[in-house]
Amino acid sequence: NWSMDDFIIDSIAKIKETVGDRKVLLGLSGGVDSSVVGVLLQKAIGDQLTCIFVDHGLLRKDEAEQVMASLGTGFGLNIIKVDAQKRFLDKLAGVTDPETKRKIIGKEFIEVFNDEAFKLKDVDFLAQGTLYTDVIESGTDTAQTIKSHHNVGGLPAEMTFKLIEPMNTLFKDEVRAIGEKLGIPHNLVWRQPFPGPGLGIRILGDITEDKLHIVRETDAILRAEIANHGLEEDIWQYFTVLTGVRSVGVMGDGRTYDYTLAIRAVTSIDGMTASFAKIPWEVLEDISIRIVNEVDHINRVVYDITSKPPATIEWE
Ligand code: XMP
Repeated sequence: NWSMDDFIIDSIAKIKETVGDRKVLLGLSGGVDSSVVGVLLQKAIGDQLTCIFVDHGLLRKDEAEQVMASLGTGFGLNIIKVDAQKRFLDKLAGVTDPETKRKIIGKEFIEVFNDEAFKLKDVDFLAQGTLYTDVIESGTDTAQTIKSHHNVGGLPAEMTFKLIEPMNTLFKDEVRAIGEKLGIPHNLVWRQPFPGPGLGIRILGDITEDKLHIVRETDAILRAEIANHGLEEDIWQYFTVLTGVRSVGVMGDGRTYDYTLAIRAVTSIDGMTASFAKIPWEVLEDISIRIVNEVDHINRVVYDITSKPPATIEWE
């Protein structure tokens, strides 16, 4: 009878034995997998762990602060937070194609992470929040090489780490159970899926700071209202999308010509298929009223009533 407590005790012992007095690096994303690995490692090896958390500027409202507060202040993880917002925005300026946006964000992310990793000395291990499902899909590696892109010598320098993947026998629900056992905050453990490219694929077309502000603020209102109405656990994923569409509206005595915001909310088991969530009209009404009142440049809110397939969950 396998229990979560046994898993925690065993894996802490195993990590201690593997690592000894050497050092471990971990990339934190703010998601449940890397958070649980981080806390497990912290319990096993304390300050021999260094985490890198890249803020690409495409995170949700207050997300970076919450990660730093709960994992850094709360659990005492040693976290290097990299503020790379400008770097990402510069690279993304004027780019409209969804796959190109994804590639730029992914590539930049690796470069920022690697640059930071190279500044650290004597790190032997790279920890990852790989789950059992990831292992089945892609096979296992035992080492990872990262390359510096800004080596003074001209040639790219390399660093090779041994991999530590303490959760590669676990399923997502087990990771969540362990996260709860470890005392990680409920909202972090049950965080809805959030794509790597973040809000960058929830702004249709090119990304600007102004558009990011709109999608971040409207997303925060949506999440707050879903929580207020106790619907958090009933909906798999919910977010706002800044469509490129502008339409005519009326405000006071004047006409406006501003953006249309879409709300996307779906129920799903695994994200492979999904149905649009049947959110009560009254809740949608509250959300819509708050958004148009509180966020400039939105004069129309629409609800996406398409399931997957044929639509995807994200709009890009
Ligand atoms: P779609 O939009 O394909 O999304 O129905 C299915 C699930 O995957 C997430 N998603 C991504 N996650 N990088 C990620 O890490 C991506 O580029 C990406 N695109 C979609 C999406 O949020 C949903 O949970």
